Amino acid sequence: MKRLPPSLSFLIAATLLAGCAKDEGPLHVPRPVDPAAPMDTVHFSTAVLPIFVEHCWLCHPPMADGMDLSPQYAYSSLVNVPSVNWAPALRVVPGDPDASVLWHKVNFTDEYGLGMPPNGSALTSAELQTIREWIEQGAMDN
Ligand code: HEC
Repeated sequence: MKRLPPSLSFLIAATLLAGCAKDEGPLHVPRPVDPAAPMDTVHFSTAVLPIFVEHCWLCHPPMADGMDLSPQYAYSSLVNVPSVNWAPALRVVPGDPDASVLWHKVNFTDEYGLGMPPNGSALTSAELQTIREWIEQGAMDN
């Protein structure tokens, strides 16, 4: 039998593979990523604030000394505001989680003292990711 040209063999093999995969669900074809496409935006009001209300507001309520994580004042208490204990370090540096006291606190890095919350209910990795991405995306008041 005459040998098939390599390109034709590949085509047959690919067809057979696609045929098999069809029975087992759709083939996973990764979509090309367009570097110009916008990232999934993390919104402060709908994604970040609920984390503070659930885990932080208890100890950082309105009128508390230093930092108010209530929905009304959380943003203005955090972004570009110097830390009380580690000034001139800022609580949140837009675009730079690793320079933000808040990130080190919630991520329990020990860099700035106590991790937050300090009462044994650490944030989940999904919540941490939300906070990190929000800071990376410029810590917007969105
Ligand atoms: C059980 C009480 C308690 C809870 C809950 C709590 N904190 Fe705190 N937090 C403190 C105390 C006490 C301090 C001051 C000591 C220190 O800076 O480590 C503090 C300090 C901080 C600071 C540093 C402020 C500065 O000016 O340096 C940040 C940022 C912070 N908390 C964020 C959070 C976040 C975000 C949460 C929720 C994920 C949270 N905290 C939950 C008690 C708490």
